[in-house]
Amino acid sequence: MKKIKSICCIGAGYVGGPTMAVIAQKCPEITVTVVDINDKRIAAWNEKNVENIPIYEPGLPEIIKEVRNRNLFFSTSVNEAIQRAEMIFISVNTPTKTYGLGKGMAADLKWIELCARQIASVANTDKIIVEKSTLPVRTAATLKSILTTTGNGVKFQILSNPEFLAEGTAIRDLLCPDRVLIGGDQEDREGREAIQALVDIYREWVPETRILTTNVWSSELSKLTANAFLAQRVSSINAISELCEKTGANVGEVANALGMDSRIGSKFLNSSVGFGGSCFQKDILNLVYIAKSYGLHEVAHYWEQVIVMNDHQKRRFAANITRSLYNTVAGKKITLLGWAFKKDTNDTRESAAISVADYLINEQADIAVYDPRVETEKIYSDLDSLETRTDLENRTKLKVFSDPYEACKDAHAIAILTEWDEFKSYDWARIYNCMIKPAFLFDGRNLLDTQKMLNLGFVFRSIGAEPRSAKVVKIRTAKVG
Ligand code: UDX
Ligand code: ADP
Repeated sequence: MKKIKSICCIGAGYVGGPTMAVIAQKCPEITVTVVDINDKRIAAWNEKNVENIPIYEPGLPEIIKEVRNRNLFFSTSVNEAIQRAEMIFISVNTPTKTYGLGKGMAADLKWIELCARQIASVANTDKIIVEKSTLPVRTAATLKSILTTTGNGVKFQILSNPEFLAEGTAIRDLLCPDRVLIGGDQEDREGREAIQALVDIYREWVPETRILTTNVWSSELSKLTANAFLAQRVSSINAISELCEKTGANVGEVANALGMDSRIGSKFLNSSVGFGGSCFQKDILNLVYIAKSYGLHEVAHYWEQVIVMNDHQKRRFAANITRSLYNTVAGKKITLLGWAFKKDTNDTRESAAISVADYLINEQADIAVYDPRVETEKIYSDLDSLETRTDLENRTKLKVFSDPYEACKDAHAIAILTEWDEFKSYDWARIYNCMIKPAFLFDGRNLLDTQKMLNLGFVFRSIGAEPRSAKVVKIRTAKVG
């Protein structure tokens, strides 16, 4: 099998961009072209100043600087790139359906299908097609059917190569992956050759023992299951956090004790305001939908609970703010620090902040938002997408600030919704001094030092610990002493 010399990636998003940048860096002899129908996005990837590329990902600008216009190109000429490529990665968006059959559960495969039809109509040489987007099990079969029945008679091999990178650490995850998974048709000679062609690319920097090859459906299902297990851990510890708040146990201490059991492990046990991101909810919903479609109702119900718990955690956090502020937040300024679904990304898909803001606006609060990386218009479009109220109403009730101290000025309460490092080093005494008293601080990420915040005078609420204020601490200390 000859070595691949030309790759095209359809979709210049959070997955396609960083993945192709790393392939281009590690395989200088391969020409990699990333295409997208969104011309603004492509223009941003081609911005002279690499700090202005459309996604914020630590370490990515440096790689882009090194490889862009060397062997990595960003373009809107989709057909041309398809024709030139020997291997095509499909990395388009696959959100949850918002209409019709499977609404709110199944993945919307309309972009994948359009992509497949486009490849079929313009390809004039044999191609290896690689699924990169997160997809329900058996999507490869759909792709194969469209490609072979609508194509020009050229041959297509379909591989599944799910992406396990997490945003914020994408470059590290791509450079040193725990494993690379490649699913393909192992029964067929051409299928095996296609698998080997992709293995050869990853072998340039990933030890062979970490490259797993499986059948296509195992590969697709492994991706959904990995995300379902990770999300389940977060929901499990979040379920325990509520119990901790009632009993006086501390969720951080519980997580620490659990994590030291080598069978359990310490990762993904940080209790939070709820998980977000483009994958967890979508993948679990996919899993649930697939299970239901096979009549496996207990399986579906089991995984559905992970989402039920997550929705509960987000609502509980917002309700706790309202309850603590004497049961009304109407007309009160409440500041949300962080809008992204986690730190070190400007991605806001399914971010807990969106639900919390919506809940508090329904309670007639005036919301102030500061996030170091998320653009103002993105915040409004996230809120608008819930269709709870008009865009004008959202803009009246929520204001976005570019300075965190201005955002916190005259607030009745602050809620930390993303674990950005910079929040830890703020001058919290200065923030306390310019707030309305009592000054409430709700730490949705257990980021700040409880004792320090209590000493400054805040009424401090973290996740999974009993509510505390400075006064309560003094009484307790006296008792113990
Ligand atoms: C996830 C998977 O980790 C990755 O392998 C897959 O390819 C895509 O989906 P991502 O969504 O980028 O990655 O972020 P991740 O780090 O998994 O976090 C998801 C959400 O869970 C975030 O909102 C995060 O804040 C939250 N989380 C994570 C917790 O609340 N507690 C934890 O302990 C860990
Ligand atoms: P992900 O997180 O999976 O990378 P994104 O939404 O960030 O998802 O990126 C997907 C990209 O795919 C978007 O920029 C979108 O414009 C692009 N896209 C969707 N359909 C097509 C298509 N048929 N041809 C080219 N690009 C497409």
